[in-house]
Amino acid sequence: MSKILITAALPYANGAIHFGHLAGAYLPADCYARFQRLMGHDVCFICGSDEYGVAIAMSAELAGRTPQEHVDCFHAVNKKLFQKMQIDFDHYSRTTWPGHVQTTVALFNDLLKNGYIEERESERLYCEQDGKFYADRYVVGTCPSCSFPSARGDECTSCGASYEAEDLKNPTTKIGNKPLTLKKTVHWYLRLDLFKDKLLAWLKTKSWKPNVVNFIKKYIQDLRPRAITRDMKWGIPVPLPEAKGKVLYVWFDAPIGYISATREWAECIGEPDRWKSYWLDPSTKLIQFIGKDNIPFHAVVFPAMLMGQNTPYKLVDELPANEFYNLAGRQFSKSDGWYVDLDQFLQKFSSDQLRYTIASNAPETQDSEFTWKDFQLRCNADLSGKFGNFVHRTLVFAKNTCQSTVPPMSPLQEADQLFLDQIKKLAEATREAYGQFRLRKACQSFMELAQAGNVYFDMKKPWQDAKKEEWGSVHTTIACCLHCIKTLALLAYPVIPTASASIIRQLGLEEPYLRRTWEEQMAYCLPTGHLLGQPEPLFRKIEDEQIALEEASLKK
Ligand code: MF3
Ligand code: ZN
Repeated sequence: MSKILITAALPYANGAIHFGHLAGAYLPADCYARFQRLMGHDVCFICGSDEYGVAIAMSAELAGRTPQEHVDCFHAVNKKLFQKMQIDFDHYSRTTWPGHVQTTVALFNDLLKNGYIEERESERLYCEQDGKFYADRYVVGTCPSCSFPSARGDECTSCGASYEAEDLKNPTTKIGNKPLTLKKTVHWYLRLDLFKDKLLAWLKTKSWKPNVVNFIKKYIQDLRPRAITRDMKWGIPVPLPEAKGKVLYVWFDAPIGYISATREWAECIGEPDRWKSYWLDPSTKLIQFIGKDNIPFHAVVFPAMLMGQNTPYKLVDELPANEFYNLAGRQFSKSDGWYVDLDQFLQKFSSDQLRYTIASNAPETQDSEFTWKDFQLRCNADLSGKFGNFVHRTLVFAKNTCQSTVPPMSPLQEADQLFLDQIKKLAEATREAYGQFRLRKACQSFMELAQAGNVYFDMKKPWQDAKKEEWGSVHTTIACCLHCIKTLALLAYPVIPTASASIIRQLGLEEPYLRRTWEEQMAYCLPTGHLLGQPEPLFRKIEDEQIALEEASLKK
């Protein structure tokens, strides 16, 4: 048994999470956590809200709330949405948790003591009118790389370049368009440049996806000291007497939030030191799920911060970064109305329907997208037509013809044996895919098994055998199909846990069965004579009219 610490990028608490977030990090992370628990490993799955930073202060201001009110609201909203989506964290913390200050200060102090943080005077953007400095996303201007005229203060949405707001040409405040000029001030910088060789040597030991590795290699070539403090009120105060009025940059404290969140989890379960058994044990596997826009911070900046500590923290082992998941050809954007509200969606459709739709089309190697037609197709053709149909027809047949009991398996014919072999083979393919972060492949494999079940059922025609009273053959067919269904419940569980739990009930098994390991479930045979539960459909079909309505409301 290994210890596996799984994290998913801490979402900003300034808006409700949408399909894009789920596809990028949370759903793959949840499926992986469920899978590794089935493998019998000691899994700790951690996340929380990212609550500081300029973007949040600004969006609170625009909403007419204090930053704290704002993050309280969206922390609650997102926590609820994760629950509704069956994203099953061991703990969902937040960076305004008071204990997070202590972890952050400790890491800052070690970096300072070890000479990795230094004070520098620099010129920052200042508004004469307001008498204050403006940073990052409070600023807009012309991109220094591509001359895009409304580039953000931290990165260009047009060409993807990242820079400091001071590099922008013609900078103005985002709210009110007030002119900004450069003025001298003092900030603290993280000397990323000092970690270059260490980082390169460490990265050599990783075999991450090519998109991740190539991106990082380029990034490391140009490592410069990076300011980790800001002139603003909302954030963790810089723990130095001479830094009054300054707070830590959100990307400094947020990744430390992974550690704090694990500490809070440990406190909640009444074993306050338990977090150390993950973060401080070199044999733990640390797996961090993120979207591709978060790669530099997880592959370079946060590892460098940890390398500069006197406490030997775990560095990330696997970084399964996904590409973007769009909405019908464009990025999700709430402000443009190009958006599907998750909460409303879940009042009409099931979390399993969405989980399967995203997982089976996850943006693993390239961007992918949600469209209503594709959603309908995956739900109706795959979930209802193949998976649900096979489970339901078998269980209804067993109820009507075998008095809802598991029939005996008579000597197998060739077709039966081939089917049983196929179950084994596809179970193995599914297991392998989950272990390699290949959700699309895993979905494809268990769906192929469901379809193989339908083909077998159609070919064996147990209804004809029943008419001819060839009970041996009927019983063998149904016993093999039940065995397949039991296997399907296992294979599909990481992706569609609600349906799996329902299958288990319909098979007349108790809920704790789902907590058995993969191996135990594979080895388990439904005993002859075992009483099955009540069959009921697993998924609802989605009608054309409903899809047409949704498409129309999106176009508006
Ligand atoms: N809030 C960031 C985002 O949504 C992710 C923060 S991840 C962490 O892009 F490492 F900083 F926690
Ligand atoms: Zn640009």
